[in-house]
Amino acid sequence: MGSKRTTSRRSWSEPGLRARLVALMDTVFPGVNDVIERARALGAAWEDVTTPFVASTEDGPVSQVSVMRFTMLLDGTQADVGCLHAVCTHPGHRRKGHYASAMRAALAFCDERYPAALLCTAQPELYEPFGFRVVDEHKVVSDVAARFDRRSMRPLRLAEARDRAVFQRLASRRAPLSRKLGVTGPATVFVVNEPDRPLVYAEDLDAIVSMEIAGDPLCLYDVVAAELPPLDEILRRLPAPVRRVELFACPDGVGLAGGAEPHVFVDGDDALGGAGASRLMVRGPFPEGPLMLPRPFRC
Ligand SMILES: CC(C)(COP(=O)(O)OP(=O)(O)OC[C@H]1O[C@@H](n2cnc3c(N)ncnc32)[C@H](O)[C@@H]1OP(=O)(O)O)[C@@H](O)C(=O)NCCC(=O)NCCS
Repeated sequence: MGSKRTTSRRSWSEPGLRARLVALMDTVFPGVNDVIERARALGAAWEDVTTPFVASTEDGPVSQVSVMRFTMLLDGTQADVGCLHAVCTHPGHRRKGHYASAMRAALAFCDERYPAALLCTAQPELYEPFGFRVVDEHKVVSDVAARFDRRSMRPLRLAEARDRAVFQRLASRRAPLSRKLGVTGPATVFVVNEPDRPLVYAEDLDAIVSMEIAGDPLCLYDVVAAELPPLDEILRRLPAPVRRVELFACPDGVGLAGGAEPHVFVDGDDALGGAGASRLMVRGPFPEGPLMLPRPFRC
């Protein structure tokens, strides 16, 4: 097996590279190729939004760290943030420093462009040596006494062309869900993460809502709209009244007054990156106090 390493920023459009990188990722995260292809069929091309940093030996690519540009609002200020993801080394090439080399290249790229970088992981110890720190996350929980008058809200399915057009129109001009920590793009990540999760569309509000209702409470994950509707308007359109709302985001955008409770997303065995607690890690300046990176933007 080859041992001489070169590490550099690469491009998905290089002849032959795409197949090799996808094969590498699919070896480490079985099923990722299907996820990428499915998102592409839904109008969201992975290659358009991610930059790979690749360590190669004579055998070809053996490790990669990819970077996406998240457009965010942090403490009320527009900021581009580097999101690191798809971190992997081929099982036959581990513990030889390939990941560390790809990571250094990715961080040099980020440091030139972005004031901060973030990632989600079940293995914080891999990233602490590179300056990342775990940020505790909080959901916001509140009792609500909502009016309830069955205004319409219908399921939205990204697999259907009509609904995809609605999503693309709104995602391209979406308001941040929070001014403290809001993510407005890339929409590709939403399409990769959310197609099998319940989404609803309120036509009169022109808003897509990512939410789950298992009796009480209502779990609210995201709202994709050019103008965020008041929470009350969402509640009055539910199929049944709820008395409690759990918001998995900062509450300023939807105007929810409630208590912050620590929350850790726990991925199941079916998660691409494997089961475990998904912790938000950041590097560089980041808002303080209770916050959460919304579920559609975790990768
Ligand atoms: C995690 C992974 C990318 C590491 O790749 P690698 O090329 O073997 O890593 P390196 O040799 O560059 O290791 C660099 C440092 O990372 C840490 N590290 C690497 N593998 C580790 C492991 N299995 N457990 C704990 N720390 C580890 C060590 O600090 C290591 O430094 P050291 O060798 O001097 O002790 C690789 O094991 C992998 O692909 N795992 C499966 C996918 C995965 O878990 N990705 C991260 C998802 S968030």
